[in-house]
Amino acid sequence: MSKSNYLDWKITKYLANKNYNFSRDQILETLSKNFIDEAYNKISEWPSYEATPLISLNKLSKELNLNNIFYKDESKRFGLKSFKALGGAYAVEKISNGKKNITIATATAGNHGRSVAWGSQRLGLKCKIFISEFVSEYRANEMKKLGADVIRVKGNYEASLIECLDQSKKNGWQIVQDVAWKDYELVPKLTMAGYSVMIKEITTQTDQYITHVFLQAGVGGMAAGSVAGIANYFKRIPKIIIVEPETADCVLQSIKNGSIKKINIKKESIMGGMSCGEVSLVPWKILKNSVDFCLSISDDQIAKTIAMLANSKFANKKIVGGECSAPGIISLIASCKNNDIKEKLDININSNILLIGCEGNADENLYNKLLSEGINQI
Ligand SMILES: Cc1ncc(COP(=O)(O)O)c(C=O)c1O
Repeated sequence: MSKSNYLDWKITKYLANKNYNFSRDQILETLSKNFIDEAYNKISEWPSYEATPLISLNKLSKELNLNNIFYKDESKRFGLKSFKALGGAYAVEKISNGKKNITIATATAGNHGRSVAWGSQRLGLKCKIFISEFVSEYRANEMKKLGADVIRVKGNYEASLIECLDQSKKNGWQIVQDVAWKDYELVPKLTMAGYSVMIKEITTQTDQYITHVFLQAGVGGMAAGSVAGIANYFKRIPKIIIVEPETADCVLQSIKNGSIKKINIKKESIMGGMSCGEVSLVPWKILKNSVDFCLSISDDQIAKTIAMLANSKFANKKIVGGECSAPGIISLIASCKNNDIKEKLDININSNILLIGCEGNADENLYNKLLSEGINQI
């Protein structure tokens, strides 16, 4: 096996945020301290709760000459295999508020729906999940196994959301959506508060100050929930770097534009959970001034990164990291291999980098396919 020299690991687009102005107060005005603290208090009382591991990618930090690289391994989250388990399920608990005779509904690319289905099952609530034609049968089955009715809709994610809204209105179902729009902000805020639990856990898992955090973005919920967690819990504010697929760089384009910009996705990325054309309203309020830099990458190194994680190339441990876990690692490596970007990001021998390993083999079929493709490349 040849050792990678990472020569062909590239950033497609780099952007510095000219409106950067990190303000804890402004962030916690959008997602309040009460929301964030309550989410941790409630979720940490769930019977199966356990903090996910914070793994040192010690081999990679040595190779890149950095102080530390920490990888938050969300493949271990409640057996649901992604950080999304923290958001949707928590919102179901809060919204249902002890009621038993309601039906929960959502539209999903997979991980959010699995969380909502699990949250509904825990509380004995009926659950309807709307999926587009792009969501795999494997992911649909995982939601069915959790007792949800899964309804497949012709078209893309947006079409599944429209159908979900329409049927929910007709039938009086309670929508638990992770995306915000005008007058629909409470549930997305609850999901983001759930995601901030990752950051709370990190504060007890290392005493090193994090200098840089790479946050993957789809509609921006995970990134904004993490930023709110940072504003609430961290003493020092790290550089915040958003990572997106080059074909779905809606946060980058919005930061560049100074206001939300919808983009047309011409080709769906393998990073399915991140293949989104528009940043959500509540995340935007948080991200617009708190993000330092935006990066986009192609799908080219995803399979290889998955294989390298699985074969202990980055850490002493084998790590199960899926298609949306790879981009943090890819963009860190690509940034370090580009002197200009490395300097602009101020990454150096003293850096303590935080990466979010946001999913494991949540879609086992896709994971196994990418893993075997990747093994041939390392
Ligand atoms: C595994 C994974 N990572 C990242 C994301 C992106 O999160 P967000 O849409 O909150 O930005 C998603 C969204 O579904 C996901 O499932």
